[in-house]
Amino acid sequence: MTDKKVWDLGVRIFHWLLVLGMIAAWFTIEYRFMQAHAIVGYGISMLLIYRLVWGFLGSTTARFSYFICSPIAAFCYLKASLQQKARSYTGHNPAGSWMVLFMLLILFLQVLSGFFANNDLGFSGPFADWVNKTQSDQLTQWHGLNFYLILAAIWLHLVAVFFYQIVKKEPLIQAMIGGRKPSKYIGDDQYLKFVSNRVAVLVWLFSLAVILLVVL
Ligand code: HEM
Ligand code: HEM
Repeated sequence: MTDKKVWDLGVRIFHWLLVLGMIAAWFTIEYRFMQAHAIVGYGISMLLIYRLVWGFLGSTTARFSYFICSPIAAFCYLKASLQQKARSYTGHNPAGSWMVLFMLLILFLQVLSGFFANNDLGFSGPFADWVNKTQSDQLTQWHGLNFYLILAAIWLHLVAVFFYQIVKKEPLIQAMIGGRKPSKYIGDDQYLKFVSNRVAVLVWLFSLAVILLVVL
């Protein structure tokens, strides 16, 4: 069976670094290593900036314009899925697209609220001085609550991914690792454009520069 490239290296690096980053963010806060928590948070911010820019400049399947769809399309997809009539999609399917956008949004809110947060023990995020103590405390509380929302979204994401992987036998995880999918799971896209890794490196450097400018 032939297979086809679906995810560029940039998206794959983004994804797996994000997974590592989330584990590190949880671990560092669990043991209250505040400096390390902040550094991990800046790293995740850099990943999110990269993904935002890559959503406009990246390869076809990474682009927001390729996978953003109406809520009705997502609903119809889920209905067709339940009836086992859904067609294959090369990149994110319509329901998955909404999930991806939602996860990116709540991750942005997490890092943003972290930038304004404080721990009452002398540590505060780089933007905490922009607001008064009550507002910073409020944002710290949101930061903690939003984390539960992120955890719920991750669980749902994993249930969906393993459903496709195990029940529908579609090798999504291999695709997110190696970038390729067997042709029978590919949608009817005629042409996918892959942007060179050199451009991706420039976008990574740009994201690093932005985050360094913000925190230094
Ligand atoms: C901290 C945990 C995780 C987070 C926050 C997360 C987040 C995301 C995001 C944002 C995307 C969209 C990728 C993009 O377009 O840039 C995605 C896709 C994906 N993730 Fe995760 N992920 C997590 C864990 C995992 C794990 C543990 C696996 C596999 C075991 C996994 C498998 C996948 C797959 C297969 C896709 C592509 C889905 C598709 O084909 O539409 N994720 N994830
Ligand atoms: C996606 C990235 C991040 C995740 C997943 C995350 C997660 C968390 C969690 C779970 C807590 C504990 C909340 C609680 O106990 O109620 C926390 C606290 C905190 N985080 Fe983050 N965080 C992230 C990014 C950041 C960033 C960028 C900063 C800013 C430098 C930051 C600063 C803080 C502060 C100041 C606290 C309060 C600690 C305390 O009350 O002892 N976080 N974070």
